[in-house]
Amino acid sequence: MTQTTVQQNSLKLVHLKYESALDETNALICRQLESVAPQSNKLIETLDASRGKQLRPLFCCSIFNGFGGDITKAARLAAVFESVHVASLLHDDVIDKCQLRRNMPTMNDLFGDGVAILLGDLVFVAIYELAASMEEIWLVKDVSKTIKLLVEGELLQQQYRFKEETSIEDYEAVIYRKTAALLELCCYASARLSGQDAEVCEEFKKFGSNFGTIFQMVDDWADFCKACQDDNKDRGVDIANGFITLPWLILLRQCDAEEKVVLTGIINQFIPACLNHPEVKSLADKYNLEKLMIDKLQEYKSRAEAVLDNVTHFDATEMKVFLDFIFSEFLKISEAK
Ligand code: FPP
Ligand code: MG
Repeated sequence: MTQTTVQQNSLKLVHLKYESALDETNALICRQLESVAPQSNKLIETLDASRGKQLRPLFCCSIFNGFGGDITKAARLAAVFESVHVASLLHDDVIDKCQLRRNMPTMNDLFGDGVAILLGDLVFVAIYELAASMEEIWLVKDVSKTIKLLVEGELLQQQYRFKEETSIEDYEAVIYRKTAALLELCCYASARLSGQDAEVCEEFKKFGSNFGTIFQMVDDWADFCKACQDDNKDRGVDIANGFITLPWLILLRQCDAEEKVVLTGIINQFIPACLNHPEVKSLADKYNLEKLMIDKLQEYKSRAEAVLDNVTHFDATEMKVFLDFIFSEFLKISEAK
């Protein structure tokens, strides 16, 4: 068995362990989404049929469990974060013009952009119903702040479209907001509701933010390689939409003036160009792009691991499984490319 398979199987075991809490989370979300509008039934059906990796709910369960907390409380908190994720993806698939998510047609593909946006709004209401039902005012405030970060991340991403002078720091600021901030809150709130003190909660925040950054970099790598066979969503769309993600930014910084003209030409074509493009492939090989990506990911992984070493009274086994899993995803994509 390869190391990658071992990591994937370990995640499946954590999934199995928390299966009933994850079912409860999904049931809570679907109950909130019931409506007289028939399109909401289709959304519920789709969410039931294809739940995705459910990393945010798994984080809640593992953190509650790792502190010896009451796992039933984790399911409701998980429903808040999973709803934020679902709402954001409904809107994101409109923005990115995607037809496929989790191997199912997107709501914009089925009903058009207008209905998909409204379904996102319906989930938006569910987020606040669920958060308010937890009777923790700080949680409602933090959810609001985090959603603002998500929106800002998407707005900044639009601002940097087709701008090859975007810095890697600008890119990191975008992905912190659009992806890492929600995982950050997920970890922070789980620690706080497990009764941990402010210092420990801050450490968990750091774990979530570093993990989330790796998560988005791996997703961007998959989009760039167009090679992740089993995540079942549209790939190669980033560059077609003008989103110059980390692999492109690294190449743009490595290459000489002549190569830069070639890369910029490809970027400006509005096509899902990626590693399947011979000139992109040749530059990626020449500059050992995969290794440069791994170096960047490793920076964030080391920071996340340092957090787990700092929190001594916590059983971090499952958090390490998540970290190894996301790293193994990168390697799996690289092997398949
Ligand atoms: C996926 O990125 C998108 C996000 C992580 C955030 C989307 C956020 C918004 C649309 C702001 C609105 C928020 C709410 C809560 C309504 P991606 O396109 O790189 O990933 P993908 O490959 O999964 O599509
Ligand atoms: Mg998208």
